[in-house]
Amino acid sequence: MAGITNGDFCKKYRDLFGIVTIGAYNLDNATLSASREIAKRGRREFLYDIPKLRKVIKREIIEGKKSNSLVSVNIRFKDFNEAEDTIKLIDKYGDIIEINCHCRQGEITKLGLGQELLKKENNHILKDFLKGITELNLRIPVFLKIRANFISVDELIYNLNKVRKYFDGLHVDCFNPGKDYPDLNYLEKIRENFKEKIIVGNNSIKSMEDGKNMLKYSDMVSVARCVLSNNIQWISEFNKYIQNREIK
Ligand SMILES: Cc1cc2nc3c(=O)[nH]c(=O)nc-3n(C[C@H](O)[C@H](O)[C@H](O)COP(=O)(O)O)c2cc1C
Repeated sequence: MAGITNGDFCKKYRDLFGIVTIGAYNLDNATLSASREIAKRGRREFLYDIPKLRKVIKREIIEGKKSNSLVSVNIRFKDFNEAEDTIKLIDKYGDIIEINCHCRQGEITKLGLGQELLKKENNHILKDFLKGITELNLRIPVFLKIRANFISVDELIYNLNKVRKYFDGLHVDCFNPGKDYPDLNYLEKIRENFKEKIIVGNNSIKSMEDGKNMLKYSDMVSVARCVLSNNIQWISEFNKYIQNREIK
């Protein structure tokens, strides 16, 4: 999560997670300026000048790997040409590249980015990003971090179908407006329609029970706020449950 998930944060959790996610990093000047505005409102953001950024990301990936997890790098950008070299660097050192189609901060959505990328009218932007990335022939998989209920699930499925061949996985924040539990119906429909993709289910997972429910419609689950509040005691137990399930 912004300002908190860097390599140093991740390596505190050695052997606990299959994947750790760092970022979101701004790969171009448009998203960096937006992030500076967000930071003025008091939110922690990663603010690195673009020339320094590649060195920073390389370091954060190397530190994050000390957690013995794969490192996924969450990124946002408007101008693919500005972002290209950093994407190549992430491919060299990281394990997964995650395009942020999730952010709802006005400074980012004003640019047509974050969750705006999920809309039909911005599908061509998402497609251009993904085509550009595909042409780089990356070694590592490309995931989209998406937010449920920004648009209807049918609309989302329709739009994602148009870019289907350009991504490998979906990291789904099952955001359920006004509720403190995830929208599993939304996730179920995504699962049914994207059977060949890796799906990471996310939102409000705080216990074994929550994790097991999410796994009905996902291959993995992810946790954010529960790590911040140090509610992690159940996670080793959950990992054992998954390992036993896989052996059977
Ligand atoms: C302060 C804060 C910052 C976040 N920043 C990001 C971000 O930069 N990129 C992203 O994809 N998700 C971001 N998220 C979303 C989380 O990764 C996660 O999807 C969300 O908190 C729901 O999961 P949880 O219920 O386990 O916390 C952020 C969440 C919070 C609370």
